[in-house]
Amino acid sequence: MEKKGRNEKLWGGRFLQGTDELVEKFHASIDFDKRLYDSDIDGSIAHVKMMAKESIIPQDDAGIIIEGLEKVRKKIENNEIAFSAALEDIHMHIEDALGKEVGEVGKKLHTGRSRNDQVALDVRIYLKKETELIIDLLKGFQKSLVIMAQKHQDVIMPGYTHLQRAQPVLFSHHLMAYYEMFKRDIQRFEDCFKRIDVMPLGAAALAGTTYPLNREFTKELLCFSKVSDNSIDSVSDRDFVMEFISHASITMVHFSRLSEELILWSSSEFSFITISDSFTTGSSIMPQKKNPDVAELVRGKTGRVLGNLINIFTLMKSLPLAYNKDMQEDKEPLFDTVDTLKICTDVYTRMLANILVHKDRMYDACKQGFLNATDLADYLVSKGMTFRRAHSVAGQAVAFALGHGKELNDMTIEEFKTLSELIEKDVYGYLEIDKMIERRISYGGTSFNNVKKAIQNAKVELGLQ
Ligand code: ARG
Repeated sequence: MEKKGRNEKLWGGRFLQGTDELVEKFHASIDFDKRLYDSDIDGSIAHVKMMAKESIIPQDDAGIIIEGLEKVRKKIENNEIAFSAALEDIHMHIEDALGKEVGEVGKKLHTGRSRNDQVALDVRIYLKKETELIIDLLKGFQKSLVIMAQKHQDVIMPGYTHLQRAQPVLFSHHLMAYYEMFKRDIQRFEDCFKRIDVMPLGAAALAGTTYPLNREFTKELLCFSKVSDNSIDSVSDRDFVMEFISHASITMVHFSRLSEELILWSSSEFSFITISDSFTTGSSIMPQKKNPDVAELVRGKTGRVLGNLINIFTLMKSLPLAYNKDMQEDKEPLFDTVDTLKICTDVYTRMLANILVHKDRMYDACKQGFLNATDLADYLVSKGMTFRRAHSVAGQAVAFALGHGKELNDMTIEEFKTLSELIEKDVYGYLEIDKMIERRISYGGTSFNNVKKAIQNAKVELGLQ
């Protein structure tokens, strides 16, 4: 339905007709950008202070506007402001509410500014805070990984390749692999923070403005590290959103891989761990069930963050410079990514502290499946055989043992001798599980000492001691 009569919107001057009701609903972003209110008000206050300093507006007016903005902030916090599609977005709601607080003088706020640079600023202020929070949450998660690794430092489990038992490793070494993964995630967020931390206000619509803005001063007030250098880029750039969601996607993939492992390990088939009752749920039909829902949900939620990644990239890929309304659509994938990553990190940190580790099950699982075959080859190398030949002899030993329903260490010395004269009685010690761990001393390997040191280093990195 077309509305007749003058258009009452803040931008309505040139419009002879009102906005169609459906269009009003369709282009409003208030439902989701209302969460930017704090950033928007902080940005506006800095803008006003700067304008007063540069005598663009009188000092007294600035005082009134700032007071008014603080009142608006309080009102939003107390749910005293009704949001409506008619006012489109958070920027217009705040300007409108300011007008109601302070009257005509409020109309000076938008001098030398456009919603294009305003929204770019707001998202950056918001995302700087959230990125710092996420880095802290991820460090908290790393702490729980390291604490768990230390608690189970010498627990031995089968290491897998192709999800087939491969060689024994320390369970703590496996956990510390995740420590490394999340360390890279944190580094990526720290790096991307530098590019979020750029102040775009002053670009105005796209070309800069005729007012003598002091952008450096605004930057200082808002605690940004840098002012953006090109006004067109300032309002067109959403690289920092794409980067952030990319890094979040990698982090979620890491959580998802861990989830997959926890789900497998807690199955009856593995029984390596038990996740506490508080982090599992039951079935409405099968009374015996205890399901690893948290891990499953995190694995599932990885899909939505990856969806957000495709969303933002597709959104940006054909946009001409500078601002296009399409860019309003950057917020939902961004906010959803922030929310999802935060809750997943939080819930995981708590869940890890509530996992029981079944040391004996893990150890027993190392006894079957010829996890010591590589070590038999290494043993033969230590006796002077070339590795390729030793590999072949160890392979024959596996074939023999398989044929006789045995493991390698069940073979008699005579049986070993039929394969190689080099094998002596000391082979049995060599094939013991603990010994296999002990010998993996190459830097970054799973030896007891290496892992102990890795845990110590991580504790120092995390300030845990
Ligand atoms: N709500 C808009 C957004 O999020 C604010 C910028 C509007 N700019 C404009 N020229 N219509 O992108």
